[in-house]
Formats: sequence, structure tokens, C-alpha cells
Amino acid sequence: MTTQKVDKILDRWKRDPQYAIEILQDIQDEHRHLPADVLHYVADALALPVGRLYHIGTFFKAFSLKPRGEHVLEVCMGTACHVRGAPRILDALSRELEVPEGGTTKDGKFTLEPVRCLGCCAIAPVVKVGKDLHGEIQAARVKTLVKKLAEG
Ligand code: FES
Repeated sequence: MTTQKVDKILDRWKRDPQYAIEILQDIQDEHRHLPADVLHYVADALALPVGRLYHIGTFFKAFSLKPRGEHVLEVCMGTACHVRGAPRILDALSRELEVPEGGTTKDGKFTLEPVRCLGCCAIAPVVKVGKDLHGEIQAARVKTLVKKLAEG
């Protein structure tokens, strides 16, 4: 990420430290993670200790300090989904993408993440991709889902 882009985001939020979370959200949206050098740059620009930004970056699930894939597949591992086969879905996705839980594919297309209850237990088991919920998903459908996402 260029410093020009970071400066644009900082300017959008008037370089006001009270908008540190919003600034980090914009950086995350742009870059799909919070690179260490960018966190240091933002900390200097906002006159904040960089530790404060790392705290925000690790506290909120929406942020990641590691590069994430273009598509983040969140597999719900809550009780209802677990009972209805979420571990099989997670295994199938892990095999299909050839990444472990929490991993990102080498081509940067996909990140696989087990998550807590997504709040839509009636359609368990659930996989969330971006804002889209895929309910009552079966391990056999995983390949089709990945193919669709890869094709865009
Ligand atoms: S347990 Fe999966 S949505 Fe609630």
C-alpha cells in the first residue's frame, strides 16, 4: 500500500486520532490486512503509540495483521452448526483449498476461518463469504461453492 493511499485515508478522517478505528477499517478494506509498516506510519501521523493500533488490530475480529484472501470463508462452528456437520464442512473446505484452518491459499484468493455462531442457527450449518450467507450447506456442495467464488 502506498503512503499516498494511506495519506488519502488519513485526510478523509482529518488525521483525527478519535477516528483510529475508522482509519484502520479503511486500510483493512483496501489492503485486506493491516501491514506493520502502515500501522507505524498511521501511529506517527496520529501521534498515537503504535501499541494502541496493534491493540485495535488484534481486539476486533474484523481486522487481521496477516494478509487475508480475496474471499474469506467463515465456517460457523457454533453449537447448532457443529451438530449439523460443520466440522465436515470445514474439513472439506480445508481439503478443497489445501489450507489449514486460519490459512490463506497461495494465490491469495481464499482464507478459511472457523468462527463462532453467526446468529442464523435456523439455517445451520452456515458458511459466510463476505456478506453472503450460505445456509444448510453440505460437504458435497463445497467444491461448487469454491468454484463459483473462484470464477467471480
Ligand atoms: S451455530 Fe451456526 S449460526 Fe448459530
